[in-house]
Amino acid sequence: MEDEHGALVDMVGVGKSYGGVQAVRGVDFTVRTGEVHALLGENGAGKSTLMKVLSGEVSGYRGDIRIAGTPVRFTSPADAQRAGIAMIHQELDLVPALSIAENVFLGREPKTRLGTVDRRRMVRETQRLLTRTGVELDARRPVELLRTGEQQLVTIAKALSFDARILIMDEPTSALSSHEVEQLFGVIAELRRSGAGIVYISHRMEEIGRVADRATVLRNGSVVAEFDARAMTAAQASEAMVGRPLNLMFRAESGTTAEPDGEDLLRVEDLVVRLRRPRPGRRDPAGLSLRVRKGEIVGLAGLLGAGRTELLETLYGVGSKGSWSGRVLLNGKPIRPRGPRHALRLGIAFVPEDRRIAGLALEHSVLANTVLSIVDRIARLGAVSRAAERRATRETTERLGVKLASITSPVGSLSGGNQQKIVLGRNLLTEPSLLLLDEPTRGVDVGAKAEIYRLLGEIAGRGVGVLLASSEPAELIGVCDRVIVLRDGKNVRELSTGEVGEADLLAASMGEAAALEELAVGEAS
Ligand SMILES: Nc1ncnc2c1ncn2[C@@H]1O[C@H](COP(=O)(O)OP(=O)(O)OP(=O)(O)O)[C@@H](O)[C@H]1O
Ligand SMILES: [Mg+2]
Repeated sequence: MEDEHGALVDMVGVGKSYGGVQAVRGVDFTVRTGEVHALLGENGAGKSTLMKVLSGEVSGYRGDIRIAGTPVRFTSPADAQRAGIAMIHQELDLVPALSIAENVFLGREPKTRLGTVDRRRMVRETQRLLTRTGVELDARRPVELLRTGEQQLVTIAKALSFDARILIMDEPTSALSSHEVEQLFGVIAELRRSGAGIVYISHRMEEIGRVADRATVLRNGSVVAEFDARAMTAAQASEAMVGRPLNLMFRAESGTTAEPDGEDLLRVEDLVVRLRRPRPGRRDPAGLSLRVRKGEIVGLAGLLGAGRTELLETLYGVGSKGSWSGRVLLNGKPIRPRGPRHALRLGIAFVPEDRRIAGLALEHSVLANTVLSIVDRIARLGAVSRAAERRATRETTERLGVKLASITSPVGSLSGGNQQKIVLGRNLLTEPSLLLLDEPTRGVDVGAKAEIYRLLGEIAGRGVGVLLASSEPAELIGVCDRVIVLRDGKNVRELSTGEVGEADLLAASMGEAAALEELAVGEAS
């Protein structure tokens, strides 16, 4: 072992319990200057908790921390910020009603000589940070009008504004598509050159080897392995995470379970969604048309703002609140979904990209949250309802491998990825005929991902139609029968997943010319 005393961060024997749950146990963890250190582990392994100890958000921990050789004991995030530590949270923690600039400088607004908030400077600095992060957004735009991926980029820009020497990124790319991930990697390279130390948490295995130098694996709160990140294979990492070899194959059998000329379950014809506030430069798009057959899994690809979420929200009757034109047919009948209840009656279920709007009541139990969508159905069974609720919840949590103390624990006490599994499981319980999924494996660990893919295959095998929006090319190619590429709110291409690679998908999403340019830039640098 080399000497770690020169390390930027040196955590020794760190432990943290929540009630009876030992989230982190006796962990040694270091970050060197100019290093990207990846932290890996299954959902609930203790990654976020360990980093919340370092960023001063969790108190009452055991063990010692040194920053550049100096012993510290933070009691608040402000303490940690003063020591040069900033954290990008897994859960987006922006204030929706405030603008991007106001969010970035919240609580530390620059002042004019008269002592009032210097808005112009705030907007100017924020605009500069956004450019550095590679986003084209107006710093004065309210955060509530941004898509999840854009919000994630804003939290990254905010973290950069601290000029931290230690930057913790807890799943910074979960809502980003390939193009934005590349932008972020550029920023990371720049930070590393300037001598910052970075902790990088991600469930996207392909990112680790590209961005990280070292990788540490946590299992049940303890360190179980450390790797040279560039030499590590996905199989090695996942085996360390899960504790046994893992089959990383997505769908067991190749080929589609859907009849090639089977019945159309869903038809969308010339759909035009009117945005609440159109983006500058975005023309009124020509209509979007697509179909999903029974038993078919259709993927939706595209860059941020391509219209994937808008499409899914429209099909579920949320978002644009009825402001769209065109036709939507379910089993040949025109429909106009008016919201969750109506959609549920039509047999449509929706897993949105943002858990917060998915309506998880964080202070309520796992059980209450899981059965929420089926209480009406269970209530009809009368006296057995309690038992039925418990059974449905147990089956759901076991099938998806949710790590929890008890089904009566508050859902908010679960780790991020485990909360996502509850959202998915709850939707599956409604036994829909059409399942709409927006980034369903966001923040979910490799083992659970494989299980979710298996489940989707099984559901499709029973004749359910699935429309899956994802920013992970590997997921689209591995799971879907066909992938439809959206750009500017319309379908621009359809790819058969048997024949395409990830590069084709990226090219189709960006538009061929832009993609070629991108490739050329990549080769030149
Ligand atoms: N506020 C809390 N109250 C009670 N238990 C908690 C709390 N926060 C985390 N835990 C528990 O601590 C353990 C570790 O959770 P943590 O969030 O650190 O996992 P993680 O590795 O970040 O997982 P993920 O990949 O899902 O984000 C889990 O068992 C979780 O349920
Ligand atoms: Mg976490």
